Amino acid sequence: MAGRKILVTAGPTYESIDPVRFIGNHSSGKMGIAIADEAAARGAKVVLVLGPTHLQATHQEIKTVRVQNAAQMYEAVHRYFKDTDVAVLAAAVADFTPEKTAPHKIKKHQATLSIPLKQTKDILASLGEIKTPSQILIGFAMETQNAKANALKKLKRKNLDFIVLNSINEKGAGFKHDTNKVSILTKNGDVYDYPLKSKKAVAADILDMAEKMFYSAGN
Ligand code: CTP
Repeated sequence: MAGRKILVTAGPTYESIDPVRFIGNHSSGKMGIAIADEAAARGAKVVLVLGPTHLQATHQEIKTVRVQNAAQMYEAVHRYFKDTDVAVLAAAVADFTPEKTAPHKIKKHQATLSIPLKQTKDILASLGEIKTPSQILIGFAMETQNAKANALKKLKRKNLDFIVLNSINEKGAGFKHDTNKVSILTKNGDVYDYPLKSKKAVAADILDMAEKMFYSAGN
């Protein structure tokens, strides 16, 4: 991977409701940060677009672009994607954001409160639409039902080279843990099931697969 350009997204996004509140999720960014660190350790030039988390990458050479919300993440990713060999979108991006951010703190005048939400732009799908045959695009999926079938649909719909399916019912896997258990489904129809491992070791598996695909794409 020496000299190759890798773009990674990681962490949650925070969608502002008013100046003091947001809609977020439990992502810590650990998996994406581990991928960024591993890629940099392999000599890649890494840009990490990182949502709001107290964690950060450790490798000195990584360029980290901090963002808060899905719209900012979309903008940052598109700034770097043209000049990217491999993009790994590991962030837990909010699918919905408030239609409007209230300019002042919302007061509790009523007994109930509804906040109209609109869909955010799907960053991964937008890259799938513009990627060239030599660029490798990798997404993540977290499914609670028909996991592999749904992940495969997502892989096709978003025009990915492969998708990393997180097992969420597995002890020690997923949000905030230092370990993860994943399956990789490729566009060629291959399925690889991995055992529970450290996120660092999972990052290595993902980058091994990315390298393999990158070279078989004729690079
Ligand atoms: N993703 C993204 N931009 C979004 C939403 C998701 O780039 N606005 C990316 C994530 O980084 C991850 C993958 O898409 O790589 C996960 O998709 P997910 O949110 O699970 O699935 P959706 O396609 O939104 O479908 P659904 O929520 O219906 O499962």
